[in-house]
Amino acid sequence: MNKPNAYVTRWMPEEALDLIRPHANLRQWEPADVPVPRETLLSEAREAEGLLVFLTDRIDQDLLDAAPKLRVVSNCAVGFDNIDVPACTARGVAVGNTPGVLTETTADLAWALLMAAARRLGEGERIVRGGKWKSWSLMYLVGQDVYGATLGIVGMGRIGAAVARRGLGFGMRILYCDRSPNEQAERELGANRVSMEELLAESDFVSVHLPLGPETRNLFGAEEFRKMKRTAIFVNTARGGVVDQAALARALAEGEIAAAGLDVYVTEPLPMDDPLLGLENVVLAPHIGSASVRTRTGMARIAAQNLVAGLLGEPLPHPVNPEVRRA
Ligand code: DGY
Repeated sequence: MNKPNAYVTRWMPEEALDLIRPHANLRQWEPADVPVPRETLLSEAREAEGLLVFLTDRIDQDLLDAAPKLRVVSNCAVGFDNIDVPACTARGVAVGNTPGVLTETTADLAWALLMAAARRLGEGERIVRGGKWKSWSLMYLVGQDVYGATLGIVGMGRIGAAVARRGLGFGMRILYCDRSPNEQAERELGANRVSMEELLAESDFVSVHLPLGPETRNLFGAEEFRKMKRTAIFVNTARGGVVDQAALARALAEGEIAAAGLDVYVTEPLPMDDPLLGLENVVLAPHIGSASVRTRTGMARIAAQNLVAGLLGEPLPHPVNPEVRRA
């Protein structure tokens, strides 16, 4: 029997590719650190019944128009703002993602950024490495205390709750805002659901855990940063687009908030002329929230399983649009 064609848009571990090979004629863009050029993707999509893609690949109407045989798009990420899901659904293309497996790893990175920003580790490292460390002194590089502070979680889903849970170990008071209550977080973490207004005014740390979509784009702008404490620290491991990045840079430069820890940006890689790069009080990571060996390998495996299920016409283990069903 003829196997369907599948295209994978980046390097992946062999153990994930081995899950696909028995079920598909596999083609792949192999460089690990260069995204597949758009033209190559469009041309590969022409014959593909399945695509395994990454957050750097845009799956939009143009791509769908170029891919008449496409039945499944498996995204190797939990976020899927790179995919026009309604357009896929309208075309009967199943979309899958990789939730769950990366929750704790991403929460760890949110905490790494939170602590690095609170205790000015980035600045400290630059000083030591640059030979600019003159002497110990009483108020040298003083930062903010984490222990006993108030942690505001915006978006109390899986990752938000995992970040909040770590806060218990630091004796933190947990506030959150979300469209709907998270009763488990309230029960187990003592988290209080409050308005955005209250969360911004009360929190020492504000950590964002929202998907990017029309309702969340630019949710954090000049006004939100003005409402935060001048000592507050802002952490974003979700998507750059939930923040008006120019407004954040201004708030940091003008001391409206104390510091930020960021893993995600409006444009990635962050352009070298971005004002954030000129600021000492921001810790910048290169979108590595889920980047542990175990988690990234697990994501690759799940993405492969979603792809194979879609190619076989079976329900995806982790569907984004479960309403798409195939016989
Ligand atoms: C995701 O999964 O959405 C992350 O941003 C990539 O690891």
